Amino acid sequence: MWDLKIINGKVVSSGYVNEHTLYIKDGKIGAVTSEDNGEEASRVIDASGKYVLPGLIDTHVHSRDPGPTYKEDFAHSSRAAAAGGITSIFEMPNTTPPVDGPEHFDLQHQNLQSKAYVDFGLWGICLGSLNNHQIQALNEKGVIGFKFFWGYAVHSETYQLIYNYKPGMENVIAPFNDGDVFEMMQEVAQTGKIFAVHAENNDLIQTMTSLVEKKGGRSYEDLIAGRPDLAELLTVNTGIELAKASGVRFHVLHVSSEAGVKAVKRAQEEGYPVTVETCPHYLFLSNEDYPEIGPQMKVYPPVKYKQDQEGIWAGIKDGTISHVCSDHAPHTEEEKEGDLWSIPAGMCGVESMASLMLNAVNQGEISITDFVRLMAEEPARMFGIYPQKGSLQPGTDADITIVDLDQEMIIQKENLHSKSKVTAFDGFAVKGVPTETIVRGAIVMQNGEITGDKGYGRLVKPVVNKQKQVQP
Ligand code: NCD
Ligand code: ZN
Repeated sequence: MWDLKIINGKVVSSGYVNEHTLYIKDGKIGAVTSEDNGEEASRVIDASGKYVLPGLIDTHVHSRDPGPTYKEDFAHSSRAAAAGGITSIFEMPNTTPPVDGPEHFDLQHQNLQSKAYVDFGLWGICLGSLNNHQIQALNEKGVIGFKFFWGYAVHSETYQLIYNYKPGMENVIAPFNDGDVFEMMQEVAQTGKIFAVHAENNDLIQTMTSLVEKKGGRSYEDLIAGRPDLAELLTVNTGIELAKASGVRFHVLHVSSEAGVKAVKRAQEEGYPVTVETCPHYLFLSNEDYPEIGPQMKVYPPVKYKQDQEGIWAGIKDGTISHVCSDHAPHTEEEKEGDLWSIPAGMCGVESMASLMLNAVNQGEISITDFVRLMAEEPARMFGIYPQKGSLQPGTDADITIVDLDQEMIIQKENLHSKSKVTAFDGFAVKGVPTETIVRGAIVMQNGEITGDKGYGRLVKPVVNKQKQVQP
């Protein structure tokens, strides 16, 4: 007797779509057969007309927990993930305390596990000389990768990001310099794990922002002028050169410009394995949407011009971009209502991402097999959790997302499961909705209802093959 069987669905895996039956037992995929062999299961899901996918993975989530949990916490964000068809989320380390060493890793593991509706990985943070000596220990604990907030200053006690940094501010650790970054990379290179960066050059941002401010510019275009594509390009190129010299696996987070995508593509064509991700807001928005959406769409790096949006789509289609993630980064509505220059950057994303990308499948921008590659298979491979996650192979975790490509929905902020419901996509009509989220055999969401339990989610640890490490 199986625990669960999923019948009549179109199963998507490794580039193929097949009408298959999935059998699940003890949280694992037991068998995948081309015909229903009539074996019984305690529970049956009839997926007629729907697609059955490996569970989706969101590699970039800021749940603010512990820390400014008045904005968001892990119980809320992992419910939002379940609601949005996501079976694993990788939690960013800009918490208070940050995940900067083995003790804080253990604390965070316990904290998140007590609240998790879905499985989770933990990013470790790089804070230069403050924690270079802890990188190897963090690696052994099982971080999914190492994150460096390049270009950001952080508060010297809470380690919270300073969104609108000006030199001379008190109680801040100023942005690190390139030499500091090289040292971090040398440490991380020894782990074989990914060194992932927020890519905006702070020196350039300071200069460009003060030029804009002198002219009295306050528009959305002025915000872009203060943090232009050149800021991304400089950091991407510097990062690539430092990565080549250190041998670290370099990954560019949330690319926002055509220039950034092209720089990564050049390095890939030279044979250097740099990777880059993007997010729905860079794919579906541009400056032209600001008059309608307003400050809710302020994010770092900023959403830029139509040409950038097109350049990022080109990077999705030619394979330069490895995967799509949300950069879920909630702030309260009050925080997002002030002046465009002083409000914090970031918005919700984990719950709406799958529907936005399924809508792109319906519009013919990508295929359903591309969707699975971008949202499940490639994230799992890159971060060393494939095939345990991101596959439907017998013997692996029964993480499954079932989607209805024909169902229409309007994204409405009041329906989001996050604590703060700030989204740039309020009122956005989409076609394509996740209808079931299954984590290790347990149905945690069905038809929009959360059916899972708080505390069910477990830590996912990567397996890193050090032989595959990049040679300097
Ligand atoms: C993120 C946050 O608020 O944590 N904000 C954002 O605009 N993307 C930080 C980050 O990823 O840069
Ligand atoms: Zn970032």
